[in-house]
Amino acid sequence: MAENRMDKIVALAKRRGFIYQSSEIYGGINGFWDYGPLGVELKRNVRNAWWADMITEHDELTAPEGAPQPFDMVGVETSIIMHPQVWKVSGHFDLFADKLVDCREKKARFRADHLNCFPIHGEEFDGEDDLDVKTCLGFVSTTETVEEFLPQTEKKGFVKRLEKAFGRDKLVVGTHPRKFLDLTPDERAKVLAPDVETVGTLTEPRDFNLMFETYTGALQSDENRAFLRPETAQGMFVNFKNVCDSSRVKVPFGIAQIGKSFRNEITPRNFTFRSREFEQMEMEFFCHPGESLQWYQYWRDRRYEWFVKLGISKENLILREHTKEELAHYSVGTADLEYAFPFLDAGEYGELEGVAHRGDFDLKSHMEGKQCKEDGKLVVEKGPDGKPKYAGSGKDLTYFDDQTRERFLPHVIEPAAGCDRATLAFLCEAYHEDTAPDDKGELQTRVVLRFHPKLAPIKVAVFPLIKKDGMPEKAGEIYRAFKKAGIAVAYDQQGAIGRRYRRMDEIGTPFCITVDGDTMTAGTVTVRDRDTLEQIRVPVTELVEHIRGRMEQ
Ligand code: GAP
Repeated sequence: MAENRMDKIVALAKRRGFIYQSSEIYGGINGFWDYGPLGVELKRNVRNAWWADMITEHDELTAPEGAPQPFDMVGVETSIIMHPQVWKVSGHFDLFADKLVDCREKKARFRADHLNCFPIHGEEFDGEDDLDVKTCLGFVSTTETVEEFLPQTEKKGFVKRLEKAFGRDKLVVGTHPRKFLDLTPDERAKVLAPDVETVGTLTEPRDFNLMFETYTGALQSDENRAFLRPETAQGMFVNFKNVCDSSRVKVPFGIAQIGKSFRNEITPRNFTFRSREFEQMEMEFFCHPGESLQWYQYWRDRRYEWFVKLGISKENLILREHTKEELAHYSVGTADLEYAFPFLDAGEYGELEGVAHRGDFDLKSHMEGKQCKEDGKLVVEKGPDGKPKYAGSGKDLTYFDDQTRERFLPHVIEPAAGCDRATLAFLCEAYHEDTAPDDKGELQTRVVLRFHPKLAPIKVAVFPLIKKDGMPEKAGEIYRAFKKAGIAVAYDQQGAIGRRYRRMDEIGTPFCITVDGDTMTAGTVTVRDRDTLEQIRVPVTELVEHIRGRMEQ
């Protein structure tokens, strides 16, 4: 059922021009997507709603509800390719890499650290030494945990597969797995990969950094190696001093940015959910260390409410605090906003946005050099020569508060949202099937996208009831009045009126205006509501303001 719903959303997205596979006429390219005429409007509306909430509608004189005090907000737009040292100091160069293993038979790819290898023994195994060279015939690998995997080894199908792979019966599966990475090359050659029937199909592990590489300038040399940014956040950290020096912001304040990020994801999947090129909406909020926990809670709750205000139902949205084990080494607290995407099983949620308390990790790193944890404390990581492994800028990134005369390194709260994931969540949430009467008054199933009016790609459609008696001309005038007012409008005079409504329902247009005989005599039109199906008559002279008012509700 869940799959069915997602399939329908993907099909609608393509059919009505929301989202297409990138380069589709050449067979597509995995992990990349194009937004069509309606998709580009929807995504722009999501972006604008976020930017308005963060920047244009932000009132720096008054504390918003729930905020400890008023604060400043500014925006930036930074480059996609940055100095390579940024990624060394941020940790992305070393830590954003996975070791990968390919299965030649299944054409599957695994992260080497996810592969658990259980020793396989002959019947002479006494259960003592799991890696007894006399009895260990090889390994069976899995990405599952010990608890998940061992019960399956009792099953008939599994026993048969093992016997076939190792050419012997009465085999014993050891209970102490080893990591694929810890095996010798000879041992790796004796591993049975997940879901295959032949031993030795896994390749040697190789490094796979998720950052896309490129070169700047004419020479493809190591000195010219650069990276497409995997997050927009670093653009704000490296400009912290610039923003402080060139604008009148005072801590606490936020720097926001919307822009493309790139990650060479190993398994892009679930429509636009995990892509290789995607857009982020990130904000770095710089505050006094002593107030950071309050700000963390404020931003976590405010971001949740943003999604709810724009139509995501609370049943489908959760705020999940990370456990201690999940926290990044620098983080004091992180909460994910997660949505019940229809491609997931019931009760499962996928990440929409992370709200992280990053402490002073980023500013400190860009000042002094890449940090690592030693005895529970963050210190500058040293190379073999005793110098910082990756040097920071050496610039003073501390902040001086001229009211309190205190100098400190601000702490950072980061709400980091994916624009494509948010757009996908709004699309999934909007998708409904219900019934509405057709032109003959008979109930028909209709597909309707119940977008919040702020997000709907087209806000209003104008129809002449018939193509004569001056109605098309009058409808044209109304259409142009909406254009002039900057309200996204469509015009349609093709087919029965019921069918025209249906076409607009399917793309989420909240209001349809019909010009009929009464318009020509009494100067009123019908305005039909997409969700309630209610139709009311409104004077043409008041139409634009009427629709503007209803869009704000
Ligand atoms: N600066 C912190 C940061 O980048 P993240 O959790 O890796 O944190 C933030 O990314 C958001 O960006 C995610 O919550 C998600 O919405 C979006 N995102 C990350 N990887 C993505 C991908 N491969 N495809 C689409 N969106 C992605």
